[in-house]
Amino acid sequence: MNVLVTGGSGYIGSHTVVELMTAGHEAIIVDDLSNSKECVVSRIASICGRKPSFYRINCTDAGKLARVFVENDIDAVIHFAGYKAVGESVTTPLAYYRNNIDSTLTLLEVMEAYGCKKLVFSSSATVYGPENPHPYREDMPAIQSASPYGWTKVMIERILTDYCTSKPDFCAVLLRYFNPIGSHTSGLLGDDPNGIPNNLMPYIARVAAGQLEKLTIFGNDYRTPDGTCQRDYLHVVDLAVGHLKALEYAQDHEGVEAFNLGTGKGISVLELVKAFETANSISLPYVIGPRRAGDLPAFWADASKAKNILGWEAKLSVEDMCRSAWSFASSS
Ligand code: WQD
Repeated sequence: MNVLVTGGSGYIGSHTVVELMTAGHEAIIVDDLSNSKECVVSRIASICGRKPSFYRINCTDAGKLARVFVENDIDAVIHFAGYKAVGESVTTPLAYYRNNIDSTLTLLEVMEAYGCKKLVFSSSATVYGPENPHPYREDMPAIQSASPYGWTKVMIERILTDYCTSKPDFCAVLLRYFNPIGSHTSGLLGDDPNGIPNNLMPYIARVAAGQLEKLTIFGNDYRTPDGTCQRDYLHVVDLAVGHLKALEYAQDHEGVEAFNLGTGKGISVLELVKAFETANSISLPYVIGPRRAGDLPAFWADASKAKNILGWEAKLSVEDMCRSAWSFASSS
């Protein structure tokens, strides 16, 4: 298949492009490079032995996006493109709503114009919000969030649900990610955000690399076994493979369907720090700081639906996640 990958030079997008091309598909990357680097495209070529097509486009630009469909016979789309920093979304909500919603509406309009009926959407566990008990299941209400970033995911899931109702032969697969970490075994791809990382693992990696002085653990007084927050960390390569399974599902289904992509296990911040130290024989300096606004104490996935319907489950270990994260950070 010819698969358009919006945000395809980003962290999860680039890993997914590698899995797509390794599986024999053609990948066409559309990315505005607002939170990624064009050199990633060459690194993908080094891994796969051939270069994916690349267009430097923001998906809100209908004319340029249409040109991609004119120049490529697109069979399906994986839609990653969007701003994704929870804290930043609180301070710049209009940019988040404009970019994330507008790019999705534009993409759907262009897909309709060119008869493309298969979409895999990069959603997030954040749509379950603070009210649902964990482990989260897809039949729980996914209608709230603690940040404008999360609300854009809730709203886009709604848009896709309503669009599928209006277009019975369209298929939208909503992939609700938990916490992807780690890197491709080559050490060429990884979580490399611009500026100071918001997320835990890229911050840990930069401390280990000596680029940041120490990790601050945001609170150790939560009602969890060791007082630090628990999350469902999964290897980004497992997550990428999940997108191929979702594409296969979309080929012979219509309508909208949500799947959790997680391991089904919770790991605390302290446990992840210790796993990183052990896997890499590194001592990581950290201090305990105040809680971060918006953090939930603990959540992880019920991952059974993806296993039963997509035939997907996370296979790589926490040690693999920590080793590969360090391999990327230490070679960057
Ligand atoms: C994990 C834990 C922090 C940094 C968010 C989004 C989610 C997805 C992943 C985009 C928390 C603690 C972190 C640090 C710390 N984003 N932490 N010190 O918040 O679970 O999820 O990122 O798709 O949608 O909600 O991930 O990595 O930011 O935090 O103690 O310097 O690590 O408090 O408990 P989170 P995270």
